[in-house]
Amino acid sequence: MKNYLFVLGRDPELSKIEIESYFEAKNEEYTILDSNDSIISIKLKDLKPEVIHELGGTVKIAEVISATLRPDEIEQNLEKYDIYKGTSNKTEYYVTGYNTGILEIVEDYLKDYFKRIKVKATHRHEGEPTKLIKKEYKEKIVDVVVFKNQVGVTVGVTDVIEQKERDLGRPNVDYMKVISIRLAKILVNLSKAKPGNTILDPFCGSGTILQESMLRGINVIGMDIDKGAIKQTTENLEWLKTKYGIKTSYVLYNKNSRDTSKFVKTMINGVVTEPYMGPYIRKLPNIMQARETIEELREIYSNLLNEVYSILKPGSRIAIVVPRLKTLEGKSVAMDFENMAKEHKYSLAYRPVLYGSNKNKLGREIYVLERN
Ligand SMILES: C[S@@+](CC[C@H](N)C(=O)[O-])C[C@H]1O[C@@H](n2cnc3c(N)ncnc32)[C@H](O)[C@@H]1O
Repeated sequence: MKNYLFVLGRDPELSKIEIESYFEAKNEEYTILDSNDSIISIKLKDLKPEVIHELGGTVKIAEVISATLRPDEIEQNLEKYDIYKGTSNKTEYYVTGYNTGILEIVEDYLKDYFKRIKVKATHRHEGEPTKLIKKEYKEKIVDVVVFKNQVGVTVGVTDVIEQKERDLGRPNVDYMKVISIRLAKILVNLSKAKPGNTILDPFCGSGTILQESMLRGINVIGMDIDKGAIKQTTENLEWLKTKYGIKTSYVLYNKNSRDTSKFVKTMINGVVTEPYMGPYIRKLPNIMQARETIEELREIYSNLLNEVYSILKPGSRIAIVVPRLKTLEGKSVAMDFENMAKEHKYSLAYRPVLYGSNKNKLGREIYVLERN
């Protein structure tokens, strides 16, 4: 077993439950040793290289090479690891500390280490993924993460560049409707769907959730009331299949999610979706308007829970975004989704988690339900 530090992006609470679901779905043994708002320390058997690319909420993963507060032991442990794996005699190194009193010891060690191995190394403070990934392509740079008494060397960084190319490079994207690749990955992981399984997004829009699932070897069924969205998704998924050479399949329906069970006749392993969230918000609604919208959405959500129950395999999950509307008066209005889920015989796998920044006009909560 080895210890790793998972450095989380925004939405740390969501990222934590994503990691738990991810390892549970893979039947991999893991123990969470410690965590704060930015980082989780996890004991694992082995870290597979694909993990960082499959998690939406983790920005980098560092392997722990020292876990002691004693300065002489820290130096010995770092020396044993021989941190610089590059060949150039010029490089950069990054050190980021979280809740730690040993940062200076690590920084002093590294300064001395690079001097001894005769590499001209410039010390930078924050190893942001965008910088790291750009530089990692060119040369082996060193990124060190220090959390309490643990010193980790980064072994995986989210490929933000490739992710952006996938986002912007697909034939169609309608930013009014689309969810981010990051959120799509998180939701897919929360559903615990495995390669070879089939998931459904009954409000597929331009197909972000479908594409991220297919990349993971999961077959998909998409549905959207808008003919244009289905056309866009078809083009996007064909593009994806060619670009990434994927074998997973998709089926799309230009239908109302209200009629899901009329069209989807196969048993599925999960529902992953951001449904219709009400009219696009330019200006915040007042309480009355927000209540009206939520009433309209209640019916859509309730129908959905009812429709998918009979096609979901027992034990499978629904990972779904539920709106919490902010109002002009500074209040928030939401449907009582927890009760609605219980009425439809689903249980909650986790407490709902708020997603996104406070600045967003539309509040979103992520629910993970289990079909009993
Ligand atoms: C937020 S978008 C979905 C984003 C998408 N899941 C993704 O992966 O990017 C919501 C979509 O729901 C569709 N929609 C709205 N009402 C619907 C209904 N009753 N049945 C099916 N689709 C609906 C809209 O056309 C829109 O494309």
